[in-house]
Order: sequence, then structure tokens, then C-alpha cells
Amino acid sequence: MFFSLSFVAPFILSNSDFFCVIRVAIEFGHFVYLRQKRKWLLFCEMGRGVTGSETSAENLRELNVSVVTADEDAFIGVNIGKDLSDMPSPTQVAALLKAQQIRHIRLYDADHAMLTALANTGIHVTVSVPNNELLGVGQSNATAANWVARNVVANVPATNITAIAVGSEVLTTLPNAAPILVNALKFIHSALVASNLDNQIKVSTPHSSSIILDSFPPSQAFFNRSWDPVMVPLLKFLQSTGSYFMLNVYPYYDYMQSNGVIQLDYALFRPLPPTKEAVDANTLLHYTNVFDAVVDAAYFAMAYLNFTNIPIVVTESGWPSKGDDNEPDAAIDNANAFNSNLIRHVLNNTGTPKHPGTSVSTYIYELYNEDMKDGPLSEKNWGLFDANGVPVYVLHLTGSGMVLVNDTTNLTFCTARNGADLKMLQAALDWACGPGKVDCSPLLQGRPCYEPDTVAAHASYAFDAYYHKMGMASGTCYFNGVAAVTTTNPSHGSCIFPGSGGRNGTFINSTSLAPSSNSTASSSTSLSFYSGGARSALLIGFVLWRAVFL
Ligand SMILES: *[C@@H]1O[C@H](CO)[C@@H](O)[C@H](O)[C@H]1NC(C)=O
Ligand SMILES: *[C@@H]1O[C@H](CO)[C@@H](O)[C@H](O)[C@H]1NC(C)=O
Ligand SMILES: *[C@@H]1O[C@H](CO)[C@@H](O)[C@H](O)[C@H]1NC(C)=O
Ligand SMILES: *[C@@H]1O[C@H](CO)[C@@H](O)[C@H](O)[C@H]1NC(C)=O
Ligand SMILES: *[C@@H]1O[C@H](CO)[C@@H](O)[C@H](O)[C@H]1NC(C)=O
Ligand SMILES: *[C@@H]1O[C@H](CO)[C@@H](O)[C@H](O)[C@H]1NC(C)=O
Ligand SMILES: *[C@@H]1O[C@H](CO)[C@@H](O)[C@H](O)[C@H]1NC(C)=O
Ligand SMILES: *[C@@H]1O[C@H](CO)[C@@H](O)[C@H](O)[C@H]1NC(C)=O
Ligand SMILES: *[C@@H]1O[C@H](CO)[C@@H](O)[C@H](O)[C@H]1NC(C)=O
Ligand SMILES: *[C@@H]1O[C@H](CO)[C@@H](O)[C@H](O)[C@H]1NC(C)=O
Repeated sequence: MFFSLSFVAPFILSNSDFFCVIRVAIEFGHFVYLRQKRKWLLFCEMGRGVTGSETSAENLRELNVSVVTADEDAFIGVNIGKDLSDMPSPTQVAALLKAQQIRHIRLYDADHAMLTALANTGIHVTVSVPNNELLGVGQSNATAANWVARNVVANVPATNITAIAVGSEVLTTLPNAAPILVNALKFIHSALVASNLDNQIKVSTPHSSSIILDSFPPSQAFFNRSWDPVMVPLLKFLQSTGSYFMLNVYPYYDYMQSNGVIQLDYALFRPLPPTKEAVDANTLLHYTNVFDAVVDAAYFAMAYLNFTNIPIVVTESGWPSKGDDNEPDAAIDNANAFNSNLIRHVLNNTGTPKHPGTSVSTYIYELYNEDMKDGPLSEKNWGLFDANGVPVYVLHLTGSGMVLVNDTTNLTFCTARNGADLKMLQAALDWACGPGKVDCSPLLQGRPCYEPDTVAAHASYAFDAYYHKMGMASGTCYFNGVAAVTTTNPSHGSCIFPGSGGRNGTFINSTSLAPSSNSTASSSTSLSFYSGGARSALLIGFVLWRAVFL
């Protein structure tokens, strides 16, 4: 039954790990490696308690299954933590989200002012029952009903609440509440049913991926058995209510804790040479990144409990941009690479090797750097923005159909040349706002770019608008010689020059970045995070599997 694939272990194992590998290899007749030393050691201690034949049964079961359907394209959302000494006001947060075209967010509470600021923005919101309110909600359906009335019913439909995350990583951070977790979900759901909101609002609870044991190879993954009494009814609930499994996926920690077993490129979605790709010996599926391996481990762990049709939404994933001296990989380039690649991966609807084409919508952790967070420096540096809304780094997303944060690669502006003749400037300004068809309304009195009220300043705005309207094509920043290209963003105060990232890190339309975005592939037409439209699941994995085994 087992495939003895000639498989190059992509990772270097330490001595003690290596003994385990040998042992397991002998025991099961195939070669495995794990993604976390801690889990690996556990594997050795427990010997998994599974014999070869049981494992085969598990494999066989896999054959019958695997219909996870996604009826929407995947989206990228962002988590909003509030542990900032200088937390922007809800209005400022909402403005940043709008400017960045962020259409999906998750809050760690159900703050009334925040939900009010999000009203009529079209932003999809996942609200949370914080862990400190969980016991109350899980012990009393009246408390749950009250929670829903106060936090949800009072805000919909103006604020588009689409999900309720009940607690956060409860099994691992608040195990005492585990016995009431499923009740909490059920009570919340009943209250939604009573308000006729259960179709539009899903109820679930985010899990740490550390509840999944033996997550590599993914086909052997299972949930920590201690939690079966919670997981089984929980999965039943998710299945019967059409909800999804919420999973937090942190390749950064997997990488950090692997003691060199996991390569940085593998964690960052960087291309690996084929010989370094991780191959699941049971399924022959190739894993090119840690993220997919963890998501598939969750699918397999659910399948192990006979739940095969529950979709996964990744409620947290990200990478810190700064860390202490002993956290050298918490670095800006790595954070940028991870998040840029993650966004491209998700929006492309690539799915995972187990469920190719099935969307795995993902919320990035997180919007702001939270300077008040305890712990190592990296804890304070997961954000895409600082408290002023200035991006921490520029994501490289050109061509992926959406732009988050000012991607200033090759970005230039067109402004009036210093000392240019005023009459010629005026003539060029008149031409730009007239025949040039530039929208010059921001230059009117009382509008953001009226000040400074000089010909040169107004001409600069108009020239730049024309230049970007023309996709920064060569020759479009000339104006009889009174205009010149510059790399300095001329935006000032609330006067944001066309094509600029804006002083506060507002977004740039990809049209201005990539004038011929026409030529880029498939999903590159949408400027926003979310592009609607039905999409059915492709389940090639299943077919492949049969082809191999039968
Ligand atoms: C709460 O539960 C009790 C008994 O299970 C039931 O009678 C009551 O209707 C429930 N209340 C709500 C608000 O669901
Ligand atoms: C909320 O979002 C859902 C999913 O995109 C959409 O179908 C619905 O129309 C939205 N509701 C409101 C009130 O905007
Ligand atoms: C499984 O869960 C139990 C209960 O929380 C915990 O004591 C144990 O350490 C977990 N096992 C692993 C390997 O994480
Ligand atoms: C899963 O289903 C199989 C076949 O129906 C059954 O033998 C097995 O006990 C089930 N496993 C669990 C964990 O429910
Ligand atoms: C996007 O998906 C297509 C197939 O659907 C795949 O060939 C391509 O490599 C993917 N691109 C990225 C960046 O993942
Ligand atoms: C975004 O653009 C502004 C103005 O062009 C610039 O000052 C800022 O440094 C940029 N942000 C990043 C992260 O490069
Ligand atoms: C920036 O310019 C270089 C050289 O002209 C080009 O290869 C690259 O694709 C450009 N990048 C973007 C994002 O336009
Ligand atoms: C940028 O931020 C400053 C201060 O933080 C604020 O006064 C200004 O209005 C902001 N501009 C925009 C365009 O949001
Ligand atoms: C981006 O494009 C949209 C639609 O094409 C337009 O309404 C918006 O003003 C543009 N924003 C910027 C900053 O250019
Ligand atoms: C996009 O392609 C179509 C057809 O190939 C063409 O007519 C159109 O002008 C192109 N648009 C841009 C912005 O290049």
C-alpha cells in the first residue's frame, strides 16, 4: 500500500530527530519528516499509536471524500488589533480601509464605535466574542442572545457583519472554556436564527494550528486527540450550519521553531528547486510552501474525523517586519515577501495541493503595528501600517489585480520645471485642464489642491494628473519644456497628487502603476480585494489519487 517514493528530505535534521526518522521509516515503511521539532518529538514519544494497517484505512477513507466546495473567489482580509498607544479613531481606521480598498476585516471584539464607522462602507466584517466574554455566552443562551442583540442586530444591515468568531484559539489559550465552546457557538447561532440572520452571518471559532499534530506529511495530520470531545461536535456544528473552519496559520513560527528543518524560502512562498519541494509520500502531493501544507493538514485532520466538506478560512497569517537580535528573520524584506506572495497566492484561487482551485480566503495579521503588545519585539511588528496609517513597507503586488499600500516601484511624477516661464506654464495648465481633459476640480477654491494658489503649483498638479492619465507614457510630461519628471511625491497636506501613494500611504490604482494591465493574466482586472463570482471546486487531487492507487 505504501509508496516508497525516492524522496529527498529537503531539510537537515538534527541528530535526535534523525533517529526518529529512521525509526518511523522502519516502522511504517516510508519516509516522513515533520515541520516542527516539538511535534516531531511527540511523534516519537507517542509512536502515533497507529499501525500500518490503520494508516491504510485512513488512506482508503481519503479516497471516498474530498468535496470541499467554494462558491466564491477567495478574498484577502485584514485583522485589526487595537493594542496601540496611539490607536487611530474608528473614523480614521475606516478611512484607511477605504483608501486601501480593504474589503474584508476581522475585529477582535464588536466595538460599537468601530462598527458604526464601518456602516455603509461595503466592508465585510467578522466580529468576535472576546475570550473574556466567552464563558458568559457559553453558559447562558440568554447572555448569548443579548450579545447578538447588542453587537450584531443593532448594527446590521448598515454594517455588513458576515461572521462571528466566537473566542480566539480557545483550546490552546483558554482550555478551561473548551467544554462550553460549542454551546457558545450554538447559542450565538440560535440567536441569529431568531433574528433571521443565520444565512448571512456564519458562526465559527479560530484555532491555532498547533492543535494539529503530525502536520507533515499533511496526509497524516490529526487533531490533538485530547480535544476530540470538542472537535467532533464543533465540526458537526460547522457542517450543519454551512460554516467554515477558522484556522490561524503562522509559517513564521513553524519556521522559527523548526531549528533549520524548514527553509526560509519554503515559509516565504519563494520558488524551490523541484528537488527541494516537500512531497507527501502518502498522497504524492508536492508542497511548495508551508502555508499550503498547514491548510492541507487541517483538511486531513478533519477528514480523519470523517468531515470532508467543511471549507477553511485562514483567520490569521502574516510575518513580522522587525524583531529582537535573536529574531533575525523578523525583517522587513521577509514580511514583504511573505505578505505579497500570500496575497498573490490567495487571490489567484490556487487552492492547496489537496484541494486545488478551492479558495482559501485569508485575513492578514495585521493592519497596524501594535506597540503595546507584550513579548519580543517581533510581537509589536506584524502590521502593514503604523499608527499614522503610513505603510511599513510597500507590498509588491503589481499584476495581481489589486494594490495595497503604495507600491512605488518605478513611480514618477510630473511637475512644473523650476523657474519655468509663467506665461508658458499658464498656457500649459489651461491646455491640461481643457483639451487635455484632466480633472482640475481639486484646484478650485476650497478644494484640497487650491493652496498654494500659484500657477506653478496648479500646473504641477495638472501636469501630474495628465501624466498619470496617460499611464506615465514617455512624452506625456513635456508641455513645451515647462514640465519635468521627478521621483519626489509632490503631494502635500490633503492634496494627493494623482498616482501618488499619498502621504498617509493611500493606495495607487494599478492602472497608473501598470498602464497596460490589459496584458496581465486572468484575475488582474479587479482593483479590489474581493472579486465576486461563482467558482466551482476543481478536485483534481482526488482523481490523481485514484489514478495512483487503484
Ligand atoms: C434558552 O434555553 C431554554 C431551555 O433550554 C429555552 O427554554 C429558552 O427558550 C432559550 N432561550 C433563548 C433565548 O434561546
Ligand atoms: C454583505 O456582503 C454580502 C457578501 O458579499 C453581500 O451579498 C450583501 O449584499 C452585503 N450586504 C450589505 C447590506 O451590503
Ligand atoms: C494535546 O492537548 C492536551 C490538552 O490540552 C495537552 O496537554 C497536550 O500537551 C497536547 N498535546 C500536544 C502534543 O500538543
Ligand atoms: C468514520 O467513518 C468510518 C466509516 O463510516 C467509521 O468506521 C469510523 O469509525 C468513523 N470515524 C470517526 C472518527 O467517526
Ligand atoms: C495562478 O493559478 C494558475 C492556475 O490556476 C497557476 O498556473 C499559476 O502558477 C498561479 N500563479 C501564482 C502566482 O500562484
Ligand atoms: C509611501 O509613499 C510616501 C510618499 O510618496 C513615502 O513617503 C513613503 O515612504 C512610502 N511608503 C513606503 C513604505 O515606502
Ligand atoms: C520597473 O522598471 C523596470 C525597468 O524598466 C522594469 O523591468 C520593471 O518591470 C518595472 N517594474 C514595475 C513594477 O513596473
Ligand atoms: C494625512 O495625515 C494627516 C495627519 O495624520 C492628516 O491631517 C491628513 O488629513 C491626512 N491626509 C489624508 C489624505 O488622509
Ligand atoms: C482609482 O480608480 C478608480 C476607478 O477607476 C477611481 O474612481 C479612483 O479615483 C482612482 N483613484 C486614484 C487615487 O487614482
Ligand atoms: C485592452 O485590450 C483591448 C483589446 O485587446 C483593447 O481594445 C484596449 O484598448 C486595451 N486597453 C488598454 C487600457 O490597453
